[in-house]
Amino acid sequence: MKLNEDQQAMLDGKYGEGAAYAMKIQVGIGECFDAERMVPIKRAHVALSNQAGDLWFAEKLVAAGAKCRVAPTVNPGWSLEFFQKGWPDLTDADIEHMQRTDNAYRTLGAVLSYNCTPYVATNVPNFGEVCAFSESSAPPYVNSVWGARTNRESANSALCAAVTGCVPEYGLLLDENRKGDIVVHVEADMKSAYEYHCLGMMGDKIGEGLPVFVGLPKVITPEALRNFGAQLNTSGAYGMYHIVGFTPEAPDLETALGGKKPKHEVVITDKDLKDFAEKFSDENDGKIDFAMFGCPHFTLEETKYIAEHLEGKKLAVPMYILVSSHAAQMADRMGLTKVLNDAGADVVPDSCPDQPVWHFLKGKTGVTESPKCAYYPRRRGLKFVLRDLDGCIEAALTGEVK
Ligand code: F3S
Repeated sequence: MKLNEDQQAMLDGKYGEGAAYAMKIQVGIGECFDAERMVPIKRAHVALSNQAGDLWFAEKLVAAGAKCRVAPTVNPGWSLEFFQKGWPDLTDADIEHMQRTDNAYRTLGAVLSYNCTPYVATNVPNFGEVCAFSESSAPPYVNSVWGARTNRESANSALCAAVTGCVPEYGLLLDENRKGDIVVHVEADMKSAYEYHCLGMMGDKIGEGLPVFVGLPKVITPEALRNFGAQLNTSGAYGMYHIVGFTPEAPDLETALGGKKPKHEVVITDKDLKDFAEKFSDENDGKIDFAMFGCPHFTLEETKYIAEHLEGKKLAVPMYILVSSHAAQMADRMGLTKVLNDAGADVVPDSCPDQPVWHFLKGKTGVTESPKCAYYPRRRGLKFVLRDLDGCIEAALTGEVK
């Protein structure tokens, strides 16, 4: 790889051991992918996960004196402020771990946003802008909805990019790799953001490549696009997709495919989505113990939608709505939090379902609209039934899924 003078100086240690270490990792990645050079970035998002390996890496950079040239936004861990208000089952070790995560990223100079949907509000790139985004829902949104350019960075490679201020130029940063090669005909009825979760989970059927979707509605909400990218990247490692007539680099099918023939075509029907949802739910007897939403984080609009449906009612089981701290504050100011709290729901900022704070739900069965939410906490002993958002709200009001 050719490095410019400043990049070479960084690799040689002129800016300290931490920056040299980050640059060494990025040069290694670049060489793996035959990148010819490094290109500058002004924007990054780190999928900080508050897991042990992630913390080990961040603290290693801190110990080596690294500082971010580009302050990245970061993913949720769990909210120290919210959960330390008398929440059950938190151990000293859990608290210490989250505090260390908080301290490490603060010292590195990250924006402590603790939100996994930065691309809708706090960290929004321009068309064509090169950036370094990790977090499953982020690269598909950034590449496909905004037309900006990022590879599917890991938490660690995105953090290195934030430290060095550049990324190796390969993969989705290059025009030739942004053309579709699979055509997906959607015949399913895409009624709400929930169907986009399920469509995104069709990775097995779609196969390996860059999918081009045809047959989707003309108007698609940010929430649906968030769900779509989150599940596509989870089910099939797709860092980008096209929707013909909707996404910026797909004004028509021919342009989306770069003038080539697709390597194969796939049809997705209502039955595919229904079969998936049925198979994905854990075994259950129809009773649920809680409801959880916001994986990826719910928007203020979704929070408002739930508040409108719960006003003056009482939930049969607890409900947790995971959001950014920005959405949480707006919900407070708008009186939505009070409505939700009165009904028995919590608006939880800065937090993710895949965290130790949910220990107290071990062995219990929840209802959610998100396959990711149902999947990750399984390793912590939580079980989930999948329904659309209206079905989940109804289930939380009655304590039973239909
Ligand atoms: Fe976000 Fe955690 Fe889900 S980072 S997408 S809430 S697994």
